[in-house]
Amino acid sequence: ERTPTGCPVSERAAGFDPFEDGYQQDPPEYVRWAREKEPIFFSPKLGYWVITRYDDIKAVFRDNITFSPSNALEKITPTGDEANAVLASYGFALNRTLVNEDEPAHMPRRRVLMDPFTPEALKHHEPMVRELARSYVDRFIDDGKADLVDQMLWEIPLTVALHFLGVPEEDMDTLRKYSIAHTVNTWGRPKPEEQVAVAHAVGNFWQYAGKVLEKMRQDPDAPGWMQYGIRKQKLHPEVVTDSYLHSMMMAGIVAAHETTANATANAMKLLLQHPQVWRELCEDPGLIPNAVEECLRHNGSVAAWRRLVTRDTQVGGVDLPAGSRLLIVTSSANHDEAHFSDADLFDIRRDNASDHLTFGYGSHQCMGKNLARMEMQIFLEEFTRRLPHMRLSQQRFSYVPNTSFRGPEHLWVEWDPAANPERSSP
Ligand code: HEM
Repeated sequence: ERTPTGCPVSERAAGFDPFEDGYQQDPPEYVRWAREKEPIFFSPKLGYWVITRYDDIKAVFRDNITFSPSNALEKITPTGDEANAVLASYGFALNRTLVNEDEPAHMPRRRVLMDPFTPEALKHHEPMVRELARSYVDRFIDDGKADLVDQMLWEIPLTVALHFLGVPEEDMDTLRKYSIAHTVNTWGRPKPEEQVAVAHAVGNFWQYAGKVLEKMRQDPDAPGWMQYGIRKQKLHPEVVTDSYLHSMMMAGIVAAHETTANATANAMKLLLQHPQVWRELCEDPGLIPNAVEECLRHNGSVAAWRRLVTRDTQVGGVDLPAGSRLLIVTSSANHDEAHFSDADLFDIRRDNASDHLTFGYGSHQCMGKNLARMEMQIFLEEFTRRLPHMRLSQQRFSYVPNTSFRGPEHLWVEWDPAANPERSSP
């Protein structure tokens, strides 16, 4: 096999399959060979160039003209006619939001919509996150065991996301189903027989988003980032378009929710797999903010992102013709020895942990990063204070097979309720 530029494809590059369990369980480990020996390779199975080193990935993020984000939400697996017809029957038209918008449209829109993400604006959400974390822990603290994903980490970030966006909290289970369908539709490889069910869920999600938006338009002064966008549309209709609002209504629920739920589950798994580190964190909660960064670096919830090459160029000495599609494996960059010394070591005191690329980098860098950080910090504060004696149960971790959104579907932990700190000093 040959690359589109005519070079032979190595055996490992030919075997690369991000829908396999190896990638799902540990993406940076799965591409270690590439990071060390063939940092940019063409994957014939995917039809993408795969980029694995920190400096190369940062260079790609830095230039969003040559490396357009327009394919960020494209289906990575083209679907068949039947699924396409189903999507069309719902009027599905997910288009540009922010994350996949090119310049010159992107920056003016990002600027106009930025204010609700300032630290002062985010402070308003903190008491709600704290209250939710406490009340969810209350529900299971006497049980001695819990699936943290099902019993807490999925729902709270969804509740916070809806609250932030200004969406009424109804039908959380349906939204969970829709969100997973969106992940599979965008970054997964559904079998032909699954594709139709996924298309129905995504189509329904699209229509749901449209209805919520219609309702919001009747009460545009209500709080919420989407209502903020609706108000801004009146001032800048060419910047905040109808298509943007409808697409963001759907994509925003996923962006704000699944990423954060998965990030916290990944963080708790990593911490409990290192009991000594967990103990240190419980003894000194002042370490939590940097521990959150180190968890995002070592085991983040976005494993890889995409870009489209718009003109013939080179990255790391490799020719990439216009039209090349790139899978930039940010989770691999985060384990690059050239940027992080002893990169596989989990070190919550690491001084450059926050250099990780889990939130992307440059002009599209995650707008919600400080909301996500705040949620993760509060969850860790509550867990270290109330359940310092918890440990990981025996289990095998499963992931929704896809290139990008990554977190265990379940996370079972256990503890002795008789030893709960609040029983001795309530
Ligand atoms: C963009 C990751 C949480 C809203 C992004 C990007 C990544 C990402 C990788 C693309 C960056 C790039 O292209 O350079 C994450 C992770 C999160 C998280 C790992 C949690 C741990 C959130 C939350 C929100 C949010 C909570 C909203 C409340 C956005 C938006 C963009 C974005 C609006 C588009 C920014 C732009 O293109 O200008 N995020 N995200 N994210 N994220 Fe997040």
